[in-house]
Amino acid sequence: MGVMPNLKNIAVVGAGMMGHGIAQIFATHGHKVILLDVSDEILTKAIENIRANLILLARSGIGSEKEIEPSIERITTTRNMEEGVSGARLVIESIPEDLNLKQNLFQKLDALCPFDTILATNTSVMSITEIASKASKRERIVGTHFWNPPYLIPLVEVIKGQDTSAQTIDAVFDLLKSIKKYPVLVKKDVPGFVGNRLQHALWREAISIVEQGIADPATVDEVIKKGFGVRLPVLGPLENADMVGLDLTLQIHQYILKHIERSPDPSPLLRQKVEQQELGFKTGRGFQGWTTEAMERCRKQLLKHLIAWHQRSEKD
Ligand SMILES: NC(=O)c1ccc[n+]([C@@H]2O[C@H](COP(=O)([O-])OP(=O)(O)OC[C@H]3O[C@@H](n4cnc5c(N)ncnc54)[C@H](O)[C@@H]3O)[C@@H](O)[C@H]2O)c1
Repeated sequence: MGVMPNLKNIAVVGAGMMGHGIAQIFATHGHKVILLDVSDEILTKAIENIRANLILLARSGIGSEKEIEPSIERITTTRNMEEGVSGARLVIESIPEDLNLKQNLFQKLDALCPFDTILATNTSVMSITEIASKASKRERIVGTHFWNPPYLIPLVEVIKGQDTSAQTIDAVFDLLKSIKKYPVLVKKDVPGFVGNRLQHALWREAISIVEQGIADPATVDEVIKKGFGVRLPVLGPLENADMVGLDLTLQIHQYILKHIERSPDPSPLLRQKVEQQELGFKTGRGFQGWTTEAMERCRKQLLKHLIAWHQRSEKD
């Protein structure tokens, strides 16, 4: 790539759970955003969701009421891909987690966008190199993994695919910092990157503990929420290992690792629950039963916690 691209105009492809929130962050930081999806209903809903998010944030002291409409006015919606991405200096893809769908989209974006337009994917776990495989200008294709809800969780994992250029990585880092996100570099394009490897190692063990009858689901969650989870915001596992000593960590691992779940396949209990349509919030029963009120309470508690966390970290 020649000249460093001016990343003023951003296109977000896919206006679902993640896409609308990603569009929102760029718009609140002064960028013009084009939000694309396959239906007008989804796009209308996305703008409604953005307005509701901004109202909630303003009422919580994050952002201001008078910035809500100007931010929304910076977002244009369209179903027309060619029109949507033509003026964008960065396109962020946030369509469903389906490799074929993403590969075809990147092939199309690669053909439509000038060579200095950066193309980013918000995939949660998939290889950036594979997603880019049908495109020709692969040095401008990069992973930018936001976390849900993207306007409250600061981290974005920036993943270098096999062909991603250093210039692309630098430009994306600069841009993310300018919108007050916290980018980290994932140096190898491995499934799950860093965050989802860690998260799903924990989930696999949690499900295995329930499956073996060691503790019930509520207890497993309590152990985390009232136990080591309390210190996680200030002490990561590697800092914690340093704090207790690597010699002690080695002794513990020598004893315990053989007892920890290491199956490469999803748990039979998980499969059985899915077969029985015990899908969690979607069907009112998963690892525990969920009434409508309990689900609403859980969602509200999470949002309240994230807002409080955000308010504290803005002060630090
Ligand atoms: N949901 C999460 O918590 C989360 C977190 C981080 C990353 N992700 C990743 O973000 C991506 C999107 O996830 P989501 O949860 O927002 O999904 P979603 O299903 O809520 O939204 C996807 C949207 O993409 C639209 N779409 C599908 N094909 C399209 C196309 N060709 N052009 C334009 N729009 C198209 C759909 O209509 C839908 O509105 C996935 O790769 C997912 O793995 C999700």
